Amino acid sequence: MGIHIATGILWLCALVPKSSARLPLETSIGEAAYSALQAINAVLNPETRDFCSLLLFRDPLTASDISLDLKLLSEQWSVREFEVETDSENATLDISWLIAEARKVRNSSYCTRVVVLSDDPAFLASFAESSLRGRLLVWATRLLVVTRLPLQELRRLLASSWTFSMMNAMALRIEDAFSSGVYSYLPYSPSGARVVRVATWSSSRGLTIAGHRQLFPQKFSNFHGATVNITALPYRPYWIEKTKVAPNGTAVTTYTGSDALMMHAMAQALNFTFHVLPSKDWNEVGFQDETMLTVMLSLVEILVMTKVVVVTKKVAERESFIASVVHLHLPQRQKIYDFTYNYEITNSDFTLAKPSLRPSWQGLYYPLSNEVWLCILFVLLLTPFLATLVICNRESEGDVKTMSLKLIGSLLGQSMASGRGESGGSRVFVASWLVFAFVVGTAYRGNLTAALTLPKYPPRIETVAQLAETVDRLLAPPYGKDVRDFLTQSESKIFQVFGSKLELVPDILSGLKQASNRISYIESDRFVRLAIVEHFTLADGSNSLYVGREKFLTSIAGLPVPHDAPYKPQIDRFLMMVIERRSETAAEETEATEGNAKALSVTHMQGPLLLLLLGLMAAGLAFLAEVLAGKA
Ligand SMILES: *[C@@H]1O[C@H](CO)[C@@H](O)[C@H](O)[C@H]1NC(C)=O
Ligand SMILES: *[C@@H]1O[C@H](CO)[C@@H](O)[C@H](O)[C@H]1NC(C)=O
Ligand SMILES: *[C@@H]1O[C@H](CO)[C@@H](O)[C@H](O)[C@H]1NC(C)=O
Ligand SMILES: *[C@@H]1O[C@H](CO)[C@@H](O)[C@H](O)[C@H]1NC(C)=O
Ligand SMILES: *[C@@H]1O[C@H](CO)[C@@H](O)[C@H](O)[C@H]1NC(C)=O
Repeated sequence: MGIHIATGILWLCALVPKSSARLPLETSIGEAAYSALQAINAVLNPETRDFCSLLLFRDPLTASDISLDLKLLSEQWSVREFEVETDSENATLDISWLIAEARKVRNSSYCTRVVVLSDDPAFLASFAESSLRGRLLVWATRLLVVTRLPLQELRRLLASSWTFSMMNAMALRIEDAFSSGVYSYLPYSPSGARVVRVATWSSSRGLTIAGHRQLFPQKFSNFHGATVNITALPYRPYWIEKTKVAPNGTAVTTYTGSDALMMHAMAQALNFTFHVLPSKDWNEVGFQDETMLTVMLSLVEILVMTKVVVVTKKVAERESFIASVVHLHLPQRQKIYDFTYNYEITNSDFTLAKPSLRPSWQGLYYPLSNEVWLCILFVLLLTPFLATLVICNRESEGDVKTMSLKLIGSLLGQSMASGRGESGGSRVFVASWLVFAFVVGTAYRGNLTAALTLPKYPPRIETVAQLAETVDRLLAPPYGKDVRDFLTQSESKIFQVFGSKLELVPDILSGLKQASNRISYIESDRFVRLAIVEHFTLADGSNSLYVGREKFLTSIAGLPVPHDAPYKPQIDRFLMMVIERRSETAAEETEATEGNAKALSVTHMQGPLLLLLLGLMAAGLAFLAEVLAGKA
């Protein structure tokens, strides 16, 4: 196989069909090659006159009688440019390099056709593998394999690789000098996966399409009840798994949650049943043992990393059709897999422990503001001087002490019985002091009662900017690795700081348990709120955690599908339909709730009206009784 890879030939030709071009009959090539070329033209013939690129991969070992060369092609098509003709003697030439060059052409062309010419299954398999890895093909790219392989072998080849079976591919099998068959692999048909003969070509009758078939058939508009493998892990409230053991002993797992419901609907719309491939849980590795954890931290982290991608890795490897739980659409993830239409906007929240109450002695201080305390202190320092001034005018000596006690006592709400023979000045002084003590004392007592019964919590961190200032560590679940990469590679300074502080924990519970006022846990909003309610809320409804008001990260989110998944258009269409239906329903609901400002009805006013009626009746009775009594 190696030698084929090394000597693969690629011509990159920008071609447009010449209007109603016919091959000149008197060509120098053999009849078989001529007929093969006509067949290829008939199959690939673009209906439009748009500029189209033709990429030709040829196995140089294939016998020359079906080989196409550039000169021949140029008689049928207008070769606009170019360009790369690789030297088959260059042994270092790698097919992946060819594929990369071809991809550039595909990327810059309005439409692309790829033709692979070989009789060697190994060359074809290696092409399939490389084009998949090099991401050469998308559904819009039509691939035609031209070969003389025996039919049995061709069937096996078409079924064997993703490129031929799932992508928009057909095979042109040259049967003899004058006829060819066109085959396509249908992964989902009423009779299961199979290779069908789409058309025949003969030099006398040209292209004849079989029955109701079409060239380059649609493969994914109906799955005809096939079973499709998907991957998911429980992620409430998006994906919830419940396993029940049926009376006959078999375990039946049911899937609920918003994404699961959507998956059920999608399965119905596209007519498939889905099978959730068993993915290992994220915390499979010995996280239970705390000491083990610290000892093996780095090792465990590596293991977690590999576990993390289980769900999406199966998608990337095309074992799983789709990962059916919503994923943040991050550029780092796009390198590994594609996303469907982004049907959600997902917010990531940061969770912190609620700040605890201040020690109770501060509660005595809290009711008055700092300025008031200062003023009171000032007054308390000043008053003894005034008191001494007032009292020094009088003869009695013991009064200074008594007066001080009285002053303080009055502040604390004790009565201040005035003694005999006090001077006018001291009375005025005492009166003004009493007013002051009354006001301050009442205000303090009132506020103290309020402060003790409704304690004031210290301010919380509610914004991302505050979070950046205060937090020491950020924790995230294992799939937060992509978020960490996203943060560290971001251009935002704050995000870079967050990225450097982000650590991974095995699951949400261990993350939330570690959360404090300087350690925050990052998780998508619906999931984390549910977890707090379920695991961190006491019977009285209180809990020790809170979710910051500002969002940590807001991102579009979709479902991971393999790179260039050929069924993505069908899934996207379905998701858009769901979104449209959802917004229609929302609009109807708003209409229904409008005009809701109701007048008070008898239902509300019955009690008062009855009361009034009873009162009137009683009054009437009393009046009657009085009138009667007056007459008697
Ligand atoms: C072989 O092809 C590669 C293409 O990447 C090129 O870099 C290299 O110089 C070529 N070697 C020779 C001997 O042509
Ligand atoms: C495809 O083309 C776009 C511009 O049209 C370019 O930004 C992008 O990098 C190209 N991708 C590849 C793989 O060449
Ligand atoms: C779904 O697939 C089954 C099995 O092939 C088929 O009988 C049924 O008609 C299909 N339903 C739709 C709506 O195509
Ligand atoms: C789905 O997975 C099962 C193994 O769990 C495998 O046997 C089956 O072939 C897979 N189906 C497809 C279509 O890949
Ligand atoms: C067991 O019962 C369930 C339904 O309760 C059924 O779907 C399943 O096929 C049964 N399995 C066996 C082995 O009988």
